[in-house]
Amino acid sequence: MSFIVAVDGPAGSGKGTITKEIEKRTGLINLDTGATYRCFALEVLRHGYTPSDTQHILNLLDNIDIKIENEGMKDIILLNGKDVTDEIRSTEVTEASALISTIIEVRNKMVELQRKMVGNKNVIVEGRDIGTVVFPHADLKIYLDADDEVRAQRRYKEYIEKGINITYDEVLEQIRWRDENDKNKQVGALKKAEDAIVIDTSNMNIEEVVEKVKNMINQKLKEKEENNMENIER
Ligand code: DC
Repeated sequence: MSFIVAVDGPAGSGKGTITKEIEKRTGLINLDTGATYRCFALEVLRHGYTPSDTQHILNLLDNIDIKIENEGMKDIILLNGKDVTDEIRSTEVTEASALISTIIEVRNKMVELQRKMVGNKNVIVEGRDIGTVVFPHADLKIYLDADDEVRAQRRYKEYIEKGINITYDEVLEQIRWRDENDKNKQVGALKKAEDAIVIDTSNMNIEEVVEKVKNMINQKLKEKEENNMENIER
């Protein structure tokens, strides 16, 4: 029986950093579901289509092959067998992935793929709709949040470190646009699952958030083990 932790939240809330750190410190495997939307967006752009070419986009869905391999502690993202780990982080792909992720058929296909990738592994899965749609019966659901200005500061710092030429105001505008896009989707919109625990990371550092999440996971694992023992004894 697998153990599933769902982590949802808006762009820049720290999902990626936290889930990768949890993977290092626990036996859980991290799955970044955003990478599946990014890969598909890259495939769309490579064919010369725009996110509004819906019919062409739907035709690409049947032949898409996305794999995420864990090499050491780094995820290698493969699109049709080729490494696209860095390419899917470009601003063009970021924008296109936000737009194509509003298409219902695309979401259905990505959700199917994500469930297959998880199989019966013990995982920590990050995205927008993990606790609500992909794994509504997850063992633990966490909703990471932070003020948009804090999230924009974090992203801005990452861009500057990578040598990307962008202003803080542009990053803030991007974050706000992505929030609107995520929250207004007809299907799979970003929203807190009823049984999710909210962690507002605005005034927390990475270590504090990781410790908090790790404690929650340990507590849930203990409860699950105790339940299993009770069932065996009965
Ligand atoms: O988390 P990310 O920024 O890498 O995600 C890329 C895009 O995919 C983002 O615009 C939101 C979308 N997405 C989604 O709709 N559902 C998910 N479970 C994960 C990402």
